[in-house]
Amino acid sequence: MKATVKANTNIALIKYWGKRDEKLFLPMNSSLSITLDKFYTTTTVEFDEYFESDIFLLNNRVAGTKESSKVFNFLDKIRELAGTKMRARVRALNNVPTAAGLASSASGFAALAAAGAKALNLKLDERELSILARQGSGSACRSIYGGFVEWQKGVETDGSDSYATQLLPEQRWNISILSVLVASKEKKVSSREGMKNTVETSPFYSGWLNTVEDDLKNAKEAIRARDFQRLGNVVEANALKMHATMLGAKPPILYWQGGTVEVIHHIQYMRTCGFSAYFTIDAGPNVKVLCPPEEERRMYEELLKLPAVEEILVCHPGSGIQYI
Ligand code: PMV
Repeated sequence: MKATVKANTNIALIKYWGKRDEKLFLPMNSSLSITLDKFYTTTTVEFDEYFESDIFLLNNRVAGTKESSKVFNFLDKIRELAGTKMRARVRALNNVPTAAGLASSASGFAALAAAGAKALNLKLDERELSILARQGSGSACRSIYGGFVEWQKGVETDGSDSYATQLLPEQRWNISILSVLVASKEKKVSSREGMKNTVETSPFYSGWLNTVEDDLKNAKEAIRARDFQRLGNVVEANALKMHATMLGAKPPILYWQGGTVEVIHHIQYMRTCGFSAYFTIDAGPNVKVLCPPEEERRMYEELLKLPAVEEILVCHPGSGIQYI
């Protein structure tokens, strides 16, 4: 009873920031992402009635207690669905540079959900897989699909209407996404802790909730019209607004480093020179730059000149989960 699945990670254009239910991973707001083509997790799950306990191997090593317990708790959810007590061996290979600040949890839990369900012969459709993956890491529900993806927050308390759907397949609009890695020395606050603290203490959080659905609508219209500038403007504003809610938290959360600000200013400057590049930033110091493919090379060269920039990884829209 064994299955292997490859899942790509995704980057949010309209951010998920805050949960209304911590246990079921139900979000306060809907969000929108692009699945990336280069960063992925390949996971094999094997269930066997002779296994005495669960084991989680991450990049060929037994994973630490924190990571392992998240995976084992998630396996419990799959076992519950299948009505079995069988233990499992999970082997995950991450092709997501940890320093890239790209959520390996998104690709990780999407791959684990799909491989676990397949190994136990659960016949889940994409919607059901998205709901399952969501309960490992919110953003994972979007990695089931390729291209441009929306996660509808839903209203039900059991989470049955909180899942992702595809807005546009990856082949339908090619854009370039540059992950710009800047020098970082600070200890990272996890997105899980960061969003909880923000929801509970930031006076700016209500401003976020009051406007994020409008941002989403605007972004969806821009995608439908393939209007890159309109999309870039709302994506950038949405990311800055998310970070503003964190600055108001107690204690305040500032994920940015000096290099983050340097990259932001340079992108704004490049726009005055006629480029159509826009940025977004997640729960970390690195900046993700979106630009039309024809500007990719110049943006890469220009940004690499900045002293704080250590590396740039280039991606394009990628596919949803693949069974191997
Ligand atoms: O699902 P998590 O716990 O990896 O949280 C994701 C949070 C952000 O990356 C900042 C936003 C998002 O929508 O992916």
